Amino acid sequence: MTMTKRSGGILRGAAAVLMSVVLGIESAAAADPVRIGVLSSTTGPFSDLGTRMNEGIRLYLKLHGDTVAGRKLELIFRDDTGPFPDVARRLVQELITRDKVELLTGFVGTPVALATIPLSTEAKKPTVLIQAATSGLTEKSPYVARVSFTVGRMAATIGNWAAKNGIGRVYTLVSDYAPGFDAEASFIRNFTEGGGKVIGSVRMPLTNVDYAVYLQRAKNEKPDAVFGFVPAGRAGIAFMKAFDDLALAKAGIRLVTTGDIVTDAALESIGDPALGVISAFHYSTAHESAENAAFLKAFREAYGDAQVDFMTLQGYDAMAAITAALARTGGDTDPDRIMAALSGLKLASARGPITINPQTRDLDQTVYFRRVEKRNGRLVNIEFDRIDPK
Ligand code: PHB
Repeated sequence: MTMTKRSGGILRGAAAVLMSVVLGIESAAAADPVRIGVLSSTTGPFSDLGTRMNEGIRLYLKLHGDTVAGRKLELIFRDDTGPFPDVARRLVQELITRDKVELLTGFVGTPVALATIPLSTEAKKPTVLIQAATSGLTEKSPYVARVSFTVGRMAATIGNWAAKNGIGRVYTLVSDYAPGFDAEASFIRNFTEGGGKVIGSVRMPLTNVDYAVYLQRAKNEKPDAVFGFVPAGRAGIAFMKAFDDLALAKAGIRLVTTGDIVTDAALESIGDPALGVISAFHYSTAHESAENAAFLKAFREAYGDAQVDFMTLQGYDAMAAITAALARTGGDTDPDRIMAALSGLKLASARGPITINPQTRDLDQTVYFRRVEKRNGRLVNIEFDRIDPK
């Protein structure tokens, strides 16, 4: 009897331990994953940008794990096929209503951000823009933050620099869409305030462009420099190729730009014609810091000698920001709590320290002046001056 009682007790104890183990597993499993919709471009005119963005996102999760505050992150990637508002609206609507995402991120082109911000705002889905770089996008909704830059700030910065550095007459060429308007207005404002003269301004179609036609017109006007903005990647490479084919540099015409035309990845395709181009931008793979060395080492380990540039880093930093915000809320995805957690967030990025400005939800970050130079046989953007955030 005694024996039976005792063994019964032992069995009950074991069962209780087993139950708690099972319950433990069950309660962990019961925490739903955080579903995050990623709108990117893996086909179409911005596919090189979107591909690197996705690699940056995946690299962050590979290094830091995909669980925050006990909740697994479930990323749902969608291909927007380019800067096409209708496709973007359909995909974001599906991500919100069918896939029930709690956050949104990605957004290579401004047109996809502009088209979908009303949807994500209505549904109160916190949205972290990884690229879309026109000024003012974050002002359109309290649920939008951004980890890229604004084309306008870069253009204004290089406009100042050009006026102070012996460039008197400039011809501006920009893509005919929001970031181009931003670049054109900001460059002209700062360049002319600094005493420069703009002798021609032309807007070029966004895609499928023969840049030679426009660059020939610029060349005919004999400016000291061309200020150019076209989207990074394929467009930027084509623009530089036409600049070289028409021998503007040989005619004594310089190129000043925002950095989108001479991204680190593009330099490999452009080759020597990029030498000497001056730009203002927030990230160069040649940036000297421990954080950048670690970022590039991790990238090489994961992706070998694939191309890496600002898009990779912005994808990486977006995941750093999202996971830090979720850690701050303890895994709660209440939209107002997530936005409060993103506001003021500071990260030690490979580009330098960054802060999500609590008022604007855009980044406070350093802008670097860079010149394309050859180091160890490779073309790189060497930083030679900087403007730190106030
Ligand atoms: C944009 O559409 O906002 C955009 C895309 C590529 C760039 C810059 C801006 O390089």
